[in-house]
Amino acid sequence: MASSLHNYAIVIISLLAIIQFKSTSGSSHHHHKHLKSLHFSLYQHETINKTGYIIVNGIKGGAGITQTTTPFGTLFVFQDSLTLTSNRSSKHVGISEGTSITSSFDGLQSISIAKFSVRLKNYKGSISVVGGTNNIKASDHPIVGGTEDFMFVQGYVTSSPVDLKGITVVYKIEFHIYWPPYAIPSS
Ligand SMILES: *[C@@H]1O[C@H](CO)[C@@H](O)[C@H](O)[C@H]1NC(C)=O
Ligand SMILES: *[C@@H]1O[C@H](CO)[C@@H](O)[C@H](O)[C@H]1NC(C)=O
Repeated sequence: MASSLHNYAIVIISLLAIIQFKSTSGSSHHHHKHLKSLHFSLYQHETINKTGYIIVNGIKGGAGITQTTTPFGTLFVFQDSLTLTSNRSSKHVGISEGTSITSSFDGLQSISIAKFSVRLKNYKGSISVVGGTNNIKASDHPIVGGTEDFMFVQGYVTSSPVDLKGITVVYKIEFHIYWPPYAIPSS
């Protein structure tokens, strides 16, 4: 059951990858025509005091500690699970490790650094991002690079809150990955 679900998910991811690759390489008017690209989504699960912790407290008298805010200057560190669907029992395909520092006085925004290590059917490796995160809105994080199959990649990763209620919060992570021409091995 788990394994057939796994295979099913891998087929979907591969199909999506093929479709995206075709549509990107097939549009001749588009200036990205020679870029190989890959687009997929995963879900990140974070449990306070289990996979994510406040390591340094923010300023006194700042925003309160709530589901969506932390005081200015709060340093938070996480190592969260990445799964194929928003259901936390769905296939585990990687981890997201990183840190965020609350950088707005209302406590809603932070500067985030994260490394996503993923193992998909045809791709394995890590993708690193850095950027601003809004705790209640979708946020784009520029990709600064990657390792293994993602060596030299560019693009962006969009993180959106899916479920902020309860002990475990869930984020949808959309990957938009582009390989520059020099990073594609000639076959
Ligand atoms: C997490 O741990 C801290 C420090 O022990 C505690 O103050 C806080 O209430 C805990 N948060 C949750 C949501 O359990
Ligand atoms: C999540 O997946 C588990 C195991 O496949 C299933 O039992 C459960 O009903 C699912 N939860 C939701 C909310 O779909």
